Amino acid sequence: MNIKQILVEKAIAAMNAAGVPEGSNPAVTQSTRAQFGDYQINGAMGAAKALKMNPRELAQKIIDNLDVADIAATVEIAGPGFINIHLKPEFLASSLMNAEKDAKLGVSEHGNAQKVVVDFSSPNLAKEMHVGHLRSTIIGDAVVRALEFRGDTVVRQNHMGDWGTQFGMLIAHLEDLLNQGIDLEKVALADLETFYRDAKKRFDDEEGFADKARDYVVKLQGGDEHCAKLWQLFIDTSVKHSEEVYAKLNVTLKREDIKAESAYNDALVGVIETLKAKGLAVEDQGAQVVFLEELANKDGEPSAFIVQKSGGGFLYATTDLAACDYRSNQLNADRILIFVDARQSLHFSQVELTARKAGFLRDATSYEFCPFGTMMGDDGKPFKTRTGGTVKLADLLDEAISRATDKLAARESDLSEEARAEIARKVGIGAVKYADLSKHRTSDYIFNWDTMLSFEGATAPYLQYAYTRVRSIFRKAGVDSANLAGNVEINEPQEKALALKLLQLEEVLDLMISEATPHVLCGYLYELASLYMSFYEACPILKEDVAQSVRESRLLLCNLVAKTLATGLDLLGIEVMEQM
Ligand code: ARG
Repeated sequence: MNIKQILVEKAIAAMNAAGVPEGSNPAVTQSTRAQFGDYQINGAMGAAKALKMNPRELAQKIIDNLDVADIAATVEIAGPGFINIHLKPEFLASSLMNAEKDAKLGVSEHGNAQKVVVDFSSPNLAKEMHVGHLRSTIIGDAVVRALEFRGDTVVRQNHMGDWGTQFGMLIAHLEDLLNQGIDLEKVALADLETFYRDAKKRFDDEEGFADKARDYVVKLQGGDEHCAKLWQLFIDTSVKHSEEVYAKLNVTLKREDIKAESAYNDALVGVIETLKAKGLAVEDQGAQVVFLEELANKDGEPSAFIVQKSGGGFLYATTDLAACDYRSNQLNADRILIFVDARQSLHFSQVELTARKAGFLRDATSYEFCPFGTMMGDDGKPFKTRTGGTVKLADLLDEAISRATDKLAARESDLSEEARAEIARKVGIGAVKYADLSKHRTSDYIFNWDTMLSFEGATAPYLQYAYTRVRSIFRKAGVDSANLAGNVEINEPQEKALALKLLQLEEVLDLMISEATPHVLCGYLYELASLYMSFYEACPILKEDVAQSVRESRLLLCNLVAKTLATGLDLLGIEVMEQM
């Protein structure tokens, strides 16, 4: 159910009947205040200007032709020509009854299902996942879940960085440790950060090691079996580390979603050949470079996009061009969404421009670089450990769970130790995710434990708690929520506000998937929970003097709130619990 969409269609028909030429924007929006109705049609003003008409007169003409008798109670003109629509309580009630019976809460399959390739998480395997990969992982995962919920076909691609010169040094180091008989799992690769640091130190300081490392890069790229084996061993361990993080984070990425940089190795020669043949890549100081006028600097110098190094080596850029070709021409993607730090925006502009000219991206494929801002510490600088090091994602998540455990320990509970540990896990992880997802994707934000773990304000704990409160009503009433009697009826203003919000889930999801912005869903769930609290205050449910039909209706509303909260949080990858 998408009320806005219904009104858009009706508004367009009415505008056309009122003499407005086709293609004029009806400008339908959700009203920001109850006094302006539930929705507004604001298109009369723009259309009147084009027609050189009085906007209020045109608005009246549109209303005369507006066929909303079965959904609207009143339609009125306000101000210079706004059309305010107050929906009928009966319409809201019957729509909610449909939602109640539907597994997807009345959210319909959207008409134009698309194939969407989503590139997210994509850590570099040379090191352990750090907080920079948190945002890509969870924002991408939330968008993927919403796309699938709306009926799109999603191909997840974890574009892991598993190739490049640093692997020469890593496998050379690995080989030496193996020769010394060191236990890989327990010692050598248990902590990839340390492993990387040790290898780097040898590379910088140890006589002969750098040469060996370089030699191993060449061998690895040439397909040498011994080097390939060492590399695979390293990659497998690193992938295992990331899988532990994914499991802890409750994200949907699986091993088969990995389409790492190395997967494109065989295509890279062809990419360069195509670029050369099309006159796009030219030799410059031994390297192959694509010069892009479109991205010229202030002095008019085109941007130089290096696609092959002077020694013949390929780069991050080359792989991304091959990835475009694969995704657009082989997978036939309608959309490609890439969730990467905003600091890589130039790279992706270069990739897209080059790929379009070379035919690696079809016109029909929309290439959407979805940048995100930086996670900051309390000091307003990029988030670091106290000593200035990068924060390992695994450590951050463990800390979240332990902080949530402490916080929950302060609350009364008759739950078992085990149940409480499970709740703390959901609260801790949920808090980190919601705090991140609720910020606009492109803005930087300050990471603060106390705010995100608070039971007040827009936080995961608040929403998880709201969910348990709704669920507790059914326990108290001794009613099975899967088997509710009666019908929804809307009388009180709090009921109406809640009903309207419940029916706007689809509108929010559409916005979230078109713009790749989970924060809109975060905001929606918070508003829903807040409206529920007002409803709960104003509208008694289980009190003795409440008429049976009213109680049944309110229980139906409660159940829809619980299901919408659980569904919405699940789309954000956040788990709920029955009790807290
Ligand atoms: N591995 C890269 C990084 O950690 C991100 C890769 C994003 N995806 C891509 N197609 N380049 O910065």
